[in-house]
Amino acid sequence: MDYKIYDTHCHLTDEKFDFDRKKLIESLHENNVEKAMIPSDTVENSIKAIELSHEYEFLYNAVGIHPEEDKNFTDEDIATISKLCDDYKCKAIGEIGLDYHYEHDKERQKYLFESQMQIADEKKLPVIIHTRDAIQDTFDILKKYPNVRGIMHSYSGSYEMAKLFMNLGYYISFSGVVTFKNAKNVKEVCAKIPIEKMLVETDSPYLTPHPYRGKRNEPKYVNLVLQEVAFLKNLTEKQASEIICRNADDIFGW
Ligand code: NI
Repeated sequence: MDYKIYDTHCHLTDEKFDFDRKKLIESLHENNVEKAMIPSDTVENSIKAIELSHEYEFLYNAVGIHPEEDKNFTDEDIATISKLCDDYKCKAIGEIGLDYHYEHDKERQKYLFESQMQIADEKKLPVIIHTRDAIQDTFDILKKYPNVRGIMHSYSGSYEMAKLFMNLGYYISFSGVVTFKNAKNVKEVCAKIPIEKMLVETDSPYLTPHPYRGKRNEPKYVNLVLQEVAFLKNLTEKQASEIICRNADDIFGW
């Protein structure tokens, strides 16, 4: 392969990587993956992400509390995130946002999300946004913070909404979902988004791309996401990867 790519979202602290984490990380370069970003869900795995990113020059961390922690987080946890993000390998706050899919507490989620948006604003860090069944509320909160930029992680919304996020300064990130045979809508949206506004990710160990669906996802499968994006944009993989890596370098300050 004649290109290099980054995985801008892989949960390398997940227990599904416990038995082969070191081997997997040390084979990233031979699989074309030059850098990787480890996002977090809780204070506990934010600390793990920081530790792991200190072990390898090409790994970076994002610290944050996921909206599905709405029942569990405390104000002290938010204060801890504000301290953890001073880490020298921390390049974003995330993943944060809103998720109304399962039973949830809307007000607690909004409070958690806004508290972390304020931290991002204060510390001048970008945000990695998770949104599910809550895209309008997510947008309404993001637009209250015009100085914060970020990434719409594993995007599966409409093109109309994507345009609004792009106008706010957000990148649109595609995951393995774009490779799924039945993901017609995501493919159509991807084809319309300018490559200059796009990122790729795996969200591993989840969302494994075609043809490995059902197996554990790994950062190296970001190549399959890139291949699909290049195809949809009518570009070579080399052309697409160069622009997408530049986008990631821009948002994460790599
Ligand atoms: Ni994720």
